Amino acid sequence: MDKVEIVEVGPRDGLQIIPQFVPTATKIAMIRALVAAGFKRMELGSFVSPKAVPQMADMDEVVAGLGPLLGVRGMVLVPNSIGAKRAIAAGITDLIFVISMSDSHNRSNVRRPTDASIEDLRAMLAEIDPDKRLKLRIGLATTFHCPFEGVMDEGKVFATMERIAALRDGFEFSLSDTTGMAMPDHVKRFSKRCLDAFGSRATFCFHGHDTAGYGIANVLAAWEAGIKSFDGAVAGLGGCPFAPGATGNIASEDMVTFFHRMGVDTGIDIDRLLEAGKIAASLPGAVTSGHARAIPRQRLMGDGVPLKDAA
Ligand code: COA
Ligand code: ZN
Repeated sequence: MDKVEIVEVGPRDGLQIIPQFVPTATKIAMIRALVAAGFKRMELGSFVSPKAVPQMADMDEVVAGLGPLLGVRGMVLVPNSIGAKRAIAAGITDLIFVISMSDSHNRSNVRRPTDASIEDLRAMLAEIDPDKRLKLRIGLATTFHCPFEGVMDEGKVFATMERIAALRDGFEFSLSDTTGMAMPDHVKRFSKRCLDAFGSRATFCFHGHDTAGYGIANVLAAWEAGIKSFDGAVAGLGGCPFAPGATGNIASEDMVTFFHRMGVDTGIDIDRLLEAGKIAASLPGAVTSGHARAIPRQRLMGDGVPLKDAA
């Protein structure tokens, strides 16, 4: 049976946009429910400036409260060496560094041009990881579309990615549709170009948002191009506070049921994921999206709904 990996990013991309502070214990309970659903890789949150993203001010407490997550790779986003050192001190060695492919979004997100972020990454790696032991995911924000500049030039994005890849082998690049406005032909073409060009020098995942309803179409496009790893957020939470107009991530539930119905294994227990979705949907200030949660379970799994259960 074909397999894909769904990486749950709700605790990071999902929570960062919620204005009301989510209590630490609730964050931990949500992460534990997601672990129970079977995710093997998850973005737990970010060690960013608490002034930039107040929701992440309690990351140290979240990581300490979770304790060891057996069999699960917990990743955290860091914007600079300060964040990377905080993560390492907390015991996390799976880091995400976001660089936006458009200067305007990079300035909005981390207050500097893209080139300066590439230099920051180089300096950060030299400082914190001279032995190249850490796992690094590079979140390529606005790979396809920027909230300020519109559709991105494929050649320019590819050239920027090459410059980042030249820093070291072994990065995982997350091709990110930050605004949820990418079109499937663009996603398919660019994903294929990356896979063909990089070979074993890097790995790739697709990180989509569902702003315009193209989320699953883009997942299919990336999968057809050969991508095997996809980011999703429970209950379709999410959005970037620095990308106006962008809404939630593609709901993990939608991806899981979509792949299962195509005969592709994700390793995720849909019933437990739907349970975790209840926690996500009950958070004050959370805006949820996605489709799977509204569909009767039997139909989700590809069967008819028994007459006695039909509404
Ligand atoms: N963790 C905690 N505090 C941090 C920090 C981190 N990773 N990085 C910086 N800070 C603190 C500094 O110590 C400084 O504190 P002070 O005012 O008490 O002296 C303050 O934040 C400002 O630091 P500075 O280096 O001047 O950063 P900045 O104001 O230019 O902001 C970033 C740059 C990158 C730190 C900030 O924009 C940020 O954290 N952005 C995160 C964006 C994000 O998460 N986007 C969503 C995900 S894509
Ligand atoms: Zn995102």
